[in-house]
Amino acid sequence: MSHSKRILCIGAGYVGGPTMAVMALKCPEYRFDVVDINPDRIAGWNSDELPIYEPGLDDVVRQARGRNLFFSTDIAAGIRSADIIFVSVNTPTKTFGEGMGMASDLQYWERTAHEIVTHAQGDKIIVEKSTLPVRTAEAMERILRANTRGRHFEVVSNPEFLAEGTAVRDLLEGDRVLIGAHDTDTGRAAAQAIADIYRHWMPDERILFTSVWSSELSKLVANAFLAQRISSINAISALCEETDADVSEIARAVGSDSRIGPRFLNASVGFGGSCFKKDILNLVYIARSYHLHEVADYWEMVVRMNEFQMQRFVRRMVKEMFNTVAGKKIALFGFAFKADTGDTRESPAITVARMLVEERARLAVTDPKALANARKDLADINGEVTFTPDPYSAAEGADAVAVLTDWRQYRELDFERIFKSMLKPAFIFDGRNILNHQALRRIGFQVYPLGSRSLTTF
Ligand code: NAD
Ligand code: UGA
Repeated sequence: MSHSKRILCIGAGYVGGPTMAVMALKCPEYRFDVVDINPDRIAGWNSDELPIYEPGLDDVVRQARGRNLFFSTDIAAGIRSADIIFVSVNTPTKTFGEGMGMASDLQYWERTAHEIVTHAQGDKIIVEKSTLPVRTAEAMERILRANTRGRHFEVVSNPEFLAEGTAVRDLLEGDRVLIGAHDTDTGRAAAQAIADIYRHWMPDERILFTSVWSSELSKLVANAFLAQRISSINAISALCEETDADVSEIARAVGSDSRIGPRFLNASVGFGGSCFKKDILNLVYIARSYHLHEVADYWEMVVRMNEFQMQRFVRRMVKEMFNTVAGKKIALFGFAFKADTGDTRESPAITVARMLVEERARLAVTDPKALANARKDLADINGEVTFTPDPYSAAEGADAVAVLTDWRQYRELDFERIFKSMLKPAFIFDGRNILNHQALRRIGFQVYPLGSRSLTTF
C-alpha cells in the first residue's frame, strides 16, 4: 500500500516506540518508521516480547506493525524517505565536563542532527520530541543550516507528556498536545503538518500552538511543577510524623480546593523516574547560566527535598528497628519507580536499597516487572541481596517489609500469611501508603505509614 506521508522517528525508547505505535494506529494512511542505533531494542520491537512494558501497548503494536509501522536500524534509509522526522533520543544528565550532574547531555541529540544533514535529500520537518533545554532548536538549526545544499529544514518542538505505566492512555486521551513553531510561513505550515497527525484523534481545542522557545521550556516547567507538588506534600509528611497529623487527610483537605486540585498529592518515599530529577536540574542549570540564582535555588530545593525524603525513610526504619538493621532481613516490596512499569531509572528503591545495605541489612527484593533492571541496578552492591518475583518468599523470615512501589497487587496480599512467616516483632514500612494500616495492626504488625502516626504495640 502506498502511504500519503512518511514519518520517521529516531530513537525507539519509552517515548519513540509507544508514540509512533499510537500514531500509526490512528493514521493508517501514513507510514511510520522507527529507527534506533541499538539493534537489540529494534529486535525487541519486532518480536512478541516488546522491549518495554506498558499496559495496552502489545495490542496497539500488533495492530499496526507490518501494516504502517516498521522498526529498523537503517537510520540513513529512514531519513532519506521521510517527510517528517521526530527525534526522541535520550537526553540524560551530563556525567562529565562543564555542567556535570546538572545540564543535559546533548551528544545523542547532536548526532542525529548530523545524520539528518548527511542523508536527507529533500526538505524535512524535524520535530523535537525529546525533552530539551530551552533554545536547543537554535543549535539544531545551526547544524542543519550549515549545510543545506538547497534543502529546507524546519525545526518544530512537540514535547511529550506521557507518563510511564499509562503511556497508551496518555497518548490516546492526553490533556493537550503542544506544538511550538517559528512564526514564519514555513514554521506555520510545519506546525499544521504536525497538528494534522494529532487531529486524527485529538480534538482541536486540545492542540496548543506556541513559539518554539515556549514549547521547549513548557516541558521542563510541567515536570518541575509536577515534581514540586510531590516534594511539597512530602515535606509536609515529615511534619505530620512529628505532630500526629495525617498527610493523607491533609492531601484530601488541601486538594479539595479546586484551585489546587487532588492529583499528584500522594506522599511517598520519593519521586523517581528518568525525567523529573533530570529536567529540574536542567532547569536549574539554565537559570544559573543566566545568573538567576534565586530561581535556580528555588527549583533545586524540589530535588533536595526528594533526596531528604528517601534518606528520612531509611533513617526512620533504622531508628524504629532499635537503631540497628545489621544482619536483619528486609523485604523490599517493589523496585520499579512507579506501578505498571518495569522501569527502575532513578527509582527511590535504589537509594533505599543502597542505604540499607550500608547499614548491613540483608535484602530480599521483589517486583512483578522490574527484577531484571533491579539486578542490574544493584550489580555492584557489596552486601547480601536476593531477588524473587514472589513477595511471600521475600518476606519469609524477614524482620521488616518496606513497600517502595505502589503495585496494586500488594494491597491484596495475604498479610496474615506474611505475618506468620516473619520474625517478631514484624515491622512494615509503607512508603506508598497503599496498605490498610488498621488491618495490618490488627494482624499484629508494627505499622509505619508515611506521614502519619505509627500503629505499634510498644
Ligand atoms: P530511551 O533511552 O528509552 O530511548 C532513547 C533511544 O534513543 C534509545 O533506544 C537509544 O538507543 C536511541 N538513540 C540514541 N542516540 C541515537 C541515534 N543517534 N540514532 C538513533 N537512535 C539513537 O529514552 P526515552 O525514555 O524514550 O526518552 C527520550 C526522550 O523523551 C528524553 O529526552 C526524555 O526526557 C523524553 N521523555 C521521556 C518520557 C518517559 O516517560 N520516558 C516522557 C516524556 C519525555
Ligand atoms: C512524568 C510526568 O508525569 C509526565 O507527564 C512526563 O511526560 C514524564 O514524567 C517525562 O517527562 O518523562 P513519569 O515519570 O513516567 O511521568 O511518571 P509519574 O506518574 O509522573 O511519576 C513520577 C514519580 O512520582 C513516580 O516515582 C511516582 O511514584 C511519584 N509520585 C507521583 C508520587 O510520589 N506521588 C504522586 O502523587 C504522584
